[in-house]
Amino acid sequence: MAATVFATVGGNEVLGRIFPKLNRTANSGIFSVSLEQFTVLQQVDGSVRLSIAGLNHKVLVTRVAESEFTAVSEVCTHSGCAIGNYDVANKRFQCPCHGSRFAADGSVLRGPAPRSLDSYPVQFDVAANMVHLEIAGISAAPDEQGAAAYLAPIAINNGTATVRYGLAAPAQVSITIWTVAGQKVLVPVEQTQEAGEHTAVIAVGQLPAGNYLCRIQTSDGFSAAEKFVVGW
Ligand code: FES
Repeated sequence: MAATVFATVGGNEVLGRIFPKLNRTANSGIFSVSLEQFTVLQQVDGSVRLSIAGLNHKVLVTRVAESEFTAVSEVCTHSGCAIGNYDVANKRFQCPCHGSRFAADGSVLRGPAPRSLDSYPVQFDVAANMVHLEIAGISAAPDEQGAAAYLAPIAINNGTATVRYGLAAPAQVSITIWTVAGQKVLVPVEQTQEAGEHTAVIAVGQLPAGNYLCRIQTSDGFSAAEKFVVGW
């Protein structure tokens, strides 16, 4: 189920949607932010402030280079004020309370902030034109707890990846495997499937050792991703 979020772009509130994958066992989630939706992120120095259900502060996502994004908490590490929007001219954030400055990746440029802003792993999915944020500590929001569509954590065993997922309704399903560099390496599922639980067992033993992303997309708009590791 897609969650509605608000993004502040240059002081204006923009309504958008992100597609949460709630990993309830690990209490974390990967959120896929579409650049088609948040068009400000289509350009270098574009920055949005996202409200994410279940997180008690906002997250600033900034495009710092053609293929590089950062995601940081808005909470200043000095006394907890919300930092300002990204200052494109000076390529920094500034806290309105006591003037701390931070680079786009959250590192401190000027105190009194004692440490970097909390940051989140980000992956740019070039083919899908999406940015995937990995956010720990998310708990399921009430409107998401009943969501039937899901992607479970990937189980790796003896060169196979077992992918369990659920569909809320019959849909065209695409499951794809990506390298962290954004290269699609496998398309194990590409077909219409019934609602309910499904399992795909994928041979991944032939892939070079490393980190991969398993992504599901359905024709009714569900999208989620899970990381897994091959060979280590
Ligand atoms: S709270 Fe940000 S500088 Fe003091």
